[in-house]
Amino acid sequence: MKKIGILTGGADCPGLNSVIRAVVRKGMQEGYVVAGIKNGWLGLVENDMRILDIRQTSGILDKGGTILGTSRVNLLDQPDQIQQLSENYKRSGLDALIAVGGEETLKIALKLHQDGHIKVVGVPKSIDNALSGTDYAFGFDTAVNVATECIDRLHTTAESHHRIIVIEVMGRYTGWIALEAGIAGGADEILVPEIPTDLRKICEDVKARHRRGRNFSIIVVSEGASVFGYNKEAVPQGERRRFGYVGEIVAKMIEESTGFETRVSVLGHIQRGGTPTAYDRIIGTQFGVKAVDLIKQEKFGQMVSLRDGKLQSVDIAEAVLTRKKIDMELYELAKVFFAS
Ligand code: F6P
Repeated sequence: MKKIGILTGGADCPGLNSVIRAVVRKGMQEGYVVAGIKNGWLGLVENDMRILDIRQTSGILDKGGTILGTSRVNLLDQPDQIQQLSENYKRSGLDALIAVGGEETLKIALKLHQDGHIKVVGVPKSIDNALSGTDYAFGFDTAVNVATECIDRLHTTAESHHRIIVIEVMGRYTGWIALEAGIAGGADEILVPEIPTDLRKICEDVKARHRRGRNFSIIVVSEGASVFGYNKEAVPQGERRRFGYVGEIVAKMIEESTGFETRVSVLGHIQRGGTPTAYDRIIGTQFGVKAVDLIKQEKFGQMVSLRDGKLQSVDIAEAVLTRKKIDMELYELAKVFFAS
């Protein structure tokens, strides 16, 4: 019997358990033994894995997080750990591996595949929706829905108190969450990393709104938006830097410049925790089943991808080459409603 491993790496997100459940069900139907590797790549370095069957993967479809655990490790400059991982992969009798993750996880998968250490298939996960090579990475829909609900809630308090509320959402290098949740939540301004921020114009817009009697405003800001050099410093692809505080800066500047009372709300990890939406459960399930198909077809070095509504596969290399920037047509649409 052939043995496949599955690991979940990098940031957790809603939908990971849907993928794990689908891989186990489909894998067992195809005659594979499925091993769950704990805590991402670290589990393979430490040889921490256990066989998964229907029992352990029942009732997890709607659970957030990952039953396998995760870690953020960068093995790319750790030759000793790669060697250890490679030995464990062989020793544990794995024939192939499914790596579920975003840019960090898939970059490692690609390197290990190219250097002949493992046979791997990737599954795209990213609440930021920043992966290239696929129109969609699961987790994003849930994050947008959570952020939209928060914006709705903040709207009512902003309106009651005649305040400006700045809402900082996740999105380190791309502004997908801000853009989609901003449109859905009726934001008056949306700040994203892809577009330089003109705070003076935003303040003028807010003042004009107030003159028209709309004496509250909702400003949605990606954590990676660049304001007066803050966050501007380029971060090489694959490197991780902690973000935050840009919402505070924007709020302070708007309050100082307009004189209107301003509050800030940082949504943070609320966007990543908890129950996946129906869409993320369905896509996660489709991605998991497709990943097993790719293994069966020996399409190693490939990642499951959704393009124009159809499931397919692309080279992992294509997915990690560049980050998928926001759809500019959608941003132009959002602008129609700015400060109106
Ligand atoms: O990559 C997903 C993400 O949620 C980003 O949007 C965010 O900047 C980052 O992870 C936060 O990472 P951590 O949970 O390690 O603080």
